[in-house]
Amino acid sequence: MTRPHLIVVDDPEAAAAVAVARVLALLAAKPWAVLGLATGETMRPIHRGLVGACQRGAVSFAQARTFNLDEYTGLRPGHPGSFAAFMRRTLFDAVDFAPGATHLPDGDDPAAYDTAIAAAGGIDLQLLGIGGNGHIGFNEPGSDFASRTRIVRLAAATRIDNAASFAPDPVPEQAVTMGIGTILAARSIVLVATGAAKAQAVAAALGPAMSPDCPASALRLHPAAIIVADRAAAGGIK
Ligand code: F6R
Repeated sequence: MTRPHLIVVDDPEAAAAVAVARVLALLAAKPWAVLGLATGETMRPIHRGLVGACQRGAVSFAQARTFNLDEYTGLRPGHPGSFAAFMRRTLFDAVDFAPGATHLPDGDDPAAYDTAIAAAGGIDLQLLGIGGNGHIGFNEPGSDFASRTRIVRLAAATRIDNAASFAPDPVPEQAVTMGIGTILAARSIVLVATGAAKAQAVAAALGPAMSPDCPASALRLHPAAIIVADRAAAGGIK
């Protein structure tokens, strides 16, 4: 068991650049790679970087396959607050993925997602953000480190953090998420944390004890996980 390798950079743009570089290097070596993707504010500059690289011809996603971490349940298809809509806006519609190459979990059949990931050959590189409460995907504190893709109830703190995507409507109460065990099965993991609101969670993820109280602390069960934090997010590390 090792703590994830920590890279501290100046700001969110620099953190995104590290993640983008990892994705580009993977796709240069393996154009048919399977990417694990995430949504959220942390991912916006990463997706912008990937779109820019594709537009200048530095990368092609034509052979790649993707599996997103999570999705809300109970939303009508195309709901603008859905992660599917977020992904289309920030990445999928702007690059050259083949039809059917991108996947999000389906709340009607969560277990099928792990089967589909395995059938694709497993995830080569999983991108992660981190919740202010230490969640990865929507694996909230208390989640089993061996959990697989399943329906979960969102923590109150997470629903508050994500309120802007739904206002004035309430944030859905449930979601479907890859489990921590599903995430740990990826061949490499890059968790990106930016901003002071993540400082406590990053410190707990790298702290002395691995605990379900901080789901991101499970990354030390992975042999090749890195955490890329900007100075603000790294501010609580002892
Ligand atoms: C999103 C996801 C979440 C976010 C986390 C951070 O697909 O799985 O774990 O990565 O909530 O969100 P932001 O980046 O908006 O602070």
